[in-house]
Amino acid sequence: MDGNGRWAKKRFMPRIFGHKHGVDALVHTINACANRGVEHLTVFAFSSENWKRPEEEVSGLMGLVLSAMTRYLTKIAGDGVRVRIIGDRGAVSQTVRNAWERAEATTAHNTRITVWVAFNYGGRWDIVQACQRAIADGVPATELSEDTLSRYMAQREAPDPDLFIRTGGEVRISNFLLWQVAYSELHFTDCLWPDFDEVELDRAFKIYATRDRRFGGVKPEAAVLAGSSDAA
Ligand code: IPE
Ligand code: MG
Repeated sequence: MDGNGRWAKKRFMPRIFGHKHGVDALVHTINACANRGVEHLTVFAFSSENWKRPEEEVSGLMGLVLSAMTRYLTKIAGDGVRVRIIGDRGAVSQTVRNAWERAEATTAHNTRITVWVAFNYGGRWDIVQACQRAIADGVPATELSEDTLSRYMAQREAPDPDLFIRTGGEVRISNFLLWQVAYSELHFTDCLWPDFDEVELDRAFKIYATRDRRFGGVKPEAAVLAGSSDAA
């Protein structure tokens, strides 16, 4: 969810104004995804690297978690949304941790869509914590397969993402779900996050639908051709 700061700057407003509108865009996007049958949506809300931002912005973002909860938790819980947080909870304040726990507990039984909020999250952190927990569990090195490690990743209950969307014009992954995006289709848009809406979402889905996903294999037609030439 990139581009909040620039969206605010264009309006001669402080960055936090963009973040606030970013929360509104998120709530709309969650419903738009759920209405289109998306079962899992993961959003990058705060990265392990975002602590480098000015203190005022970091505390503004933490405050926004609390106010967004007051404003939206009842609504999203009523909309059938299950909220799960992924990231290093150790470093965030007790107040924010409590808010996340409340969001998870309140929505735990919802089934319409699961929204994974990556908060104080980094893809490299995720891989390291998965290895650490596997080792702590006594998994022997010879049994540390891709499948085993996947079971220790933060988002282990969700399938790998089919589509990765980055707003805000940058063309990079920036330490998001590194392990999980191995075969995701990537979509980059200049749209700034607070402007993201159903039109942008449908555009991304339409482009996704034209992609040819082979997961390292070959197209079925090519496989048939290869098969028939072998037989010939
Ligand atoms: C992304 O928007 C939101 C967070 C990281 C919390 P930015 O704050 O990165 O917005 P720009 O990139 O400065 O426009
Ligand atoms: Mg940015």
